[in-house]
Amino acid sequence: MEKLEKLRTEIDKLDKDIAVLLEKRFKVSMHIIKQKKEEKLPLFHPERENEVINRVCSYVSDERFIEEIKCIQNLIIRMSRQVQSKYMFQKHIFITGFMGSGKTSIAKKVADMLAMNIVEMDSEIEQRCNQSISDIFHMKGEGFFREMEHALLNEITESDVKSVVSTGGGIVLKESNVHLLKKHGIVIWLKATPKDIFSRLSNDAQRPLLKDNMSIERIEKMMNERDSAYRQVADFSIQTSHEKIDDIALEIVKFLGSVQDDK
Ligand code: S3P
Repeated sequence: MEKLEKLRTEIDKLDKDIAVLLEKRFKVSMHIIKQKKEEKLPLFHPERENEVINRVCSYVSDERFIEEIKCIQNLIIRMSRQVQSKYMFQKHIFITGFMGSGKTSIAKKVADMLAMNIVEMDSEIEQRCNQSISDIFHMKGEGFFREMEHALLNEITESDVKSVVSTGGGIVLKESNVHLLKKHGIVIWLKATPKDIFSRLSNDAQRPLLKDNMSIERIEKMMNERDSAYRQVADFSIQTSHEKIDDIALEIVKFLGSVQDDK
């Protein structure tokens, strides 16, 4: 028993050292992000992160622990990114754009790169109603859905946790939503051609507004009706047709690094 107590005391001391070192490390991370912003350097630098992980592993002499140490180092790097994002973004990052423009997958990628929380508004509404978007439209009507969407946006903007938010394609239709998006976030508009949207969605039955009338012409018409609303609210726009998700996400992160603090 005495021996166990001694070992526990040793572990407690090591944990204390780790906590103190991590605190120091996070403080340095915050200085780094300030510096990167000043020098307009990329916020996300995967090559450098891999280098760091490999170097840390090279310090480990007992092979038995390499896997665990690598895993912890990965987590430390991710948490440092989280600390940096919290410092950098005092606003939400809203991803907007027409149905099928890639909002969900690109928002996930951006959130992952910045180690930020993600909210997918349509999925959240589906969970809350315990129904698919398609069923909500069909059984309760578009008006009900728009009310839910507005209430959820309101809730998100009131939260202290800043998130990357993948919005529904029609979020910009309500003036009150436009006001909230502008006031509480940095808005990214994903663009795609009607032809591209058509090929992405033609086999998808989950878009109630296109379900019974899916054609390039219909998509083009709806897009034209909404374009000015997307444009009015956007801080940055990017084409998603023919681009890889990783490259688009990197471009967005690059833009976010250049955003002025007063935005
Ligand atoms: C809508 C887009 C959908 C969903 C609902 C209404 C719209 O979201 O919110 O079907 O009006 O454009 P996605 O853009 O994610 O498909």
